[in-house]
Amino acid sequence: MTPTDDWIIPQEWSSYTAEQHATWDTLFARQAKLLPGRVAPAFLSGLEFLRLAKPGIPDFEELSERLMKATGWQVVAVPGLVPDDVFFDHLANRRFVAGNFIRRADQLDYLQEPDVFHDVFGHVPLLADPVFADYLQAYGIGGQRANGLGAIRNLARLYWYTVEFGLVQTADGLRIYGAGIASSHSESIFALEDPSPNRIGFDLQRIMRTLYRIDDFQQTYFVIDNFEALLETTLNTDFAPLYDALTSVEDIAVDQIEPGDRIIWRGTQSHAHAA
Ligand code: PHE
Ligand code: FE
Repeated sequence: MTPTDDWIIPQEWSSYTAEQHATWDTLFARQAKLLPGRVAPAFLSGLEFLRLAKPGIPDFEELSERLMKATGWQVVAVPGLVPDDVFFDHLANRRFVAGNFIRRADQLDYLQEPDVFHDVFGHVPLLADPVFADYLQAYGIGGQRANGLGAIRNLARLYWYTVEFGLVQTADGLRIYGAGIASSHSESIFALEDPSPNRIGFDLQRIMRTLYRIDDFQQTYFVIDNFEALLETTLNTDFAPLYDALTSVEDIAVDQIEPGDRIIWRGTQSHAHAA
């Protein structure tokens, strides 16, 4: 990959307005209050280590300097979603791509494209955790391979149900680790406390068959035992035969319970049915 097609742009930190910094602060304060007792302890340690409580939108250079010390990851700015091969190349090289724009003050709860709050607040704290950091890099390398095997669709579901919407079991109960949940006030409550969604034990092949929704809260969340187990299972499994096998089985619907599912909570699906 040449330096021109990496999609990286300058963050232009000095161009953010006071109002934009204030939007970050509002979102930050709301989640910082809500997440203790709901999010994985490693997420809170990451926030602290990276000093994300410092007011204003973080400066990626400063953030990368601290992150680099913990796990060798960097945060780089991109204009929004980037092509799959570009995304995988960055992850494989321990570069996390983040949107540099922030949602408008009247869009605190809903936006279609990941902004700097989702990308940095949601994703970056766990990149300070050595095991999770290795998982995301391994995912990038796995993505490059899946690209060649025509299996992005299946692998993308693993990202969705872990990195974006994953829950983890702890001695104190279920906790959030997915960035799509941790950066959303309403889904942080829904994912853990609402009777509506299914909560099912992590199963790699099952996840790679499962559809997901991008327009509302998830109807199923998958629960890992811990980051070590997630890393170990994904790293030690050759995905190529799984991709092959998946071409001849049906996709699983967003709310479906399958024989063999390790059911932690059988959802009522009341939220989805009411919508
Ligand atoms: N083991 C996977 C493969 O064979 C790669 C991978 C590792 C994917 C970790 C995701 C996470 O392709
Ligand atoms: Fe994300």
